[in-house]
Amino acid sequence: MYYSKADLAQLEHRERINLINSVSGIKPVNLIGTASASGATNLAIFSSVVHLGSNPALLGFILRPHQEVRRHTYENILATGVFTLNHVHRDFVQRAHYTSAKFPDEVSEFAACGLHEAYREGFAAPFVRESQLQLGLRYRESIPIPLNRTTLVIGEVENATIPDRVREEGGHLDLSRVDDVGLSGMNSYYALEKIAQFPYARPEELPLF
Ligand SMILES: Cc1cc2nc3c(=O)[nH]c(=O)nc-3n(C[C@H](O)[C@H](O)[C@H](O)COP(=O)(O)O)c2cc1C
Repeated sequence: MYYSKADLAQLEHRERINLINSVSGIKPVNLIGTASASGATNLAIFSSVVHLGSNPALLGFILRPHQEVRRHTYENILATGVFTLNHVHRDFVQRAHYTSAKFPDEVSEFAACGLHEAYREGFAAPFVRESQLQLGLRYRESIPIPLNRTTLVIGEVENATIPDRVREEGGHLDLSRVDDVGLSGMNSYYALEKIAQFPYARPEELPLF
């Protein structure tokens, strides 16, 4: 099936959202943990986390328009300056998915979805106890994208908890060992399988294809 620009524009609203959300391929799945200034915790699933650079260690995520709809994650990040990123594994993927529901202000997604808070000394944002790969980040910058009123929110990694069995030589990680999941669209989750590892690609070291 070939879709022209006109075909895409004519797709039924929901179908278009799902299709365009899926075409970029498999996305990472993270739970962002935050707390308000008064200590109320919040947890939400995000699929737009992206690596921005290693030195300093910067990660960003895309926040949907927040001008009309309240986004607790973003409000908390601005209020406290910190947030956590927690990988999602196969055994709690369903609980992670439901953190996206619009709960009333006073309800913490941790309790509502059967996930547990964990804390590290000197770091105000909550980690997810069930997650084996946890990152603590300090908020650095927001870059508005006027084209669709989304925002790129950037944080710097302050601490990382990574199980030894995931670590491979040279700092590589095999995320299949903790059953990390990937996402297509907004609701289809995939298991990971590591299938290859190649050296840094140099023209003079090209294999014979
Ligand atoms: C699989 C999945 C991925 C999502 N990814 C994002 C995302 O990258 N950015 C975003 O703003 N919202 C994303 N959402 C929606 C948020 O999870 C949802 O709006 C959540 O209620 C935000 O919580 P908050 O208002 O407590 O910040 C995603 C939802 C699902 C189900």
